[in-house]
Amino acid sequence: MSNTPGVTDARTPPVAVWQVLEKLRGQDLVDWRVAPLEGRPSPAERGMEIGFPFGWYAVEQTDFIAVGQVKPLRYFSKDLAIWRGEDGKVRVTDAWCKHLGAHMGHGGKVSGNLLECPFHAWRYDGEEGVVKDIPYAKAIPPQVKRKCLRTWPVTEANGWIWVWYHPDQNVAPMWDVVVHEEYGDPEWTEYDMHEWIVYGSIQNMAENGVDVAHFKYIHGTADVPQAELRWGDWGRGADVKAQMGTPSGIVDGLISYDTMGAGQSWVRFRGISETLLVASLVPIEEDVLRVRYGFMQPKSQANGPGAGLAKALIRDICKQLDQDKVIWDRMRFEANPIICDGDGPIPQFRQWYSRYYAKPDGEGGNQGLRAVG
Ligand code: FES
Ligand SMILES: [Fe+2]
Repeated sequence: MSNTPGVTDARTPPVAVWQVLEKLRGQDLVDWRVAPLEGRPSPAERGMEIGFPFGWYAVEQTDFIAVGQVKPLRYFSKDLAIWRGEDGKVRVTDAWCKHLGAHMGHGGKVSGNLLECPFHAWRYDGEEGVVKDIPYAKAIPPQVKRKCLRTWPVTEANGWIWVWYHPDQNVAPMWDVVVHEEYGDPEWTEYDMHEWIVYGSIQNMAENGVDVAHFKYIHGTADVPQAELRWGDWGRGADVKAQMGTPSGIVDGLISYDTMGAGQSWVRFRGISETLLVASLVPIEEDVLRVRYGFMQPKSQANGPGAGLAKALIRDICKQLDQDKVIWDRMRFEANPIICDGDGPIPQFRQWYSRYYAKPDGEGGNQGLRAVG
């Protein structure tokens, strides 16, 4: 995080990231953030076959899908179909029809609240995962009258559609999505959105905040502000008091980072520039992570005299992600890293984070059974 210029100046990064980012400006930078990365080693070579941690994930913004629309999704190494029924509710199921295997996210139709397959019009209930209707048949085969299609728990909050991921589809959501009151508040701006594809894992990205040594070498910060870490049952956080340089002198700032489950995280910046960063981090494959940052600020600030600083804060946060991405895209997940005394609490983090991993379908409980540290 940026604070006193010269002390934590993220705009003069060290050599490794500078070589990559130096010439990228404007649209070139935006394109680089989501560009395909060809020729990367397999997830196995990179130690990334560790599965996905469970939790609620913000897969799309609410306006992604209107009433009566069907679209394909790919997350968690699965092809999915998403639709919004006539009742306004979003449903998500596995994509492939149990009849002859058509992909229902491509060309499927909404029939009432049901999803109609584009191939022969079998109609699925998105909550029960059963076939409710086959327009051309006298009888529905018994195998599809009972649950035959995986249905994914869905909720909407903070302007996002959230999908509950757990490797065992029988494990219901274990907590609720945390609601941010700033979203929809007329005093606050809409989201200012920024997007990246990171060729790495969500756990690796989460670990970045406790990796205190990298701030100097990747972000060019001379000093790392002391963070007060909070470790909860399913969420964790950190409060960082930072002295921030402004044109009118040094201001005490507070940065509060919070997570709920593996998939929900947000950061509140107070002091110099009030900002809520809502992060959407969703694995597409084990080595591909879609990252979106949505920033909201009070309108009085975003449109007022502090607008320049408010924008600069957003630019700096995005720049930090750019810098990390240079490393994340190519690194390997070291399950047994060799740690020195100047490192942050990386082993503690990994031990704690292992609670989000479970074995699929009935092979284990719903707690983290696999320690990856
Ligand atoms: S493949 Fe879906 S109805 Fe035939
Ligand atoms: Fe970082």
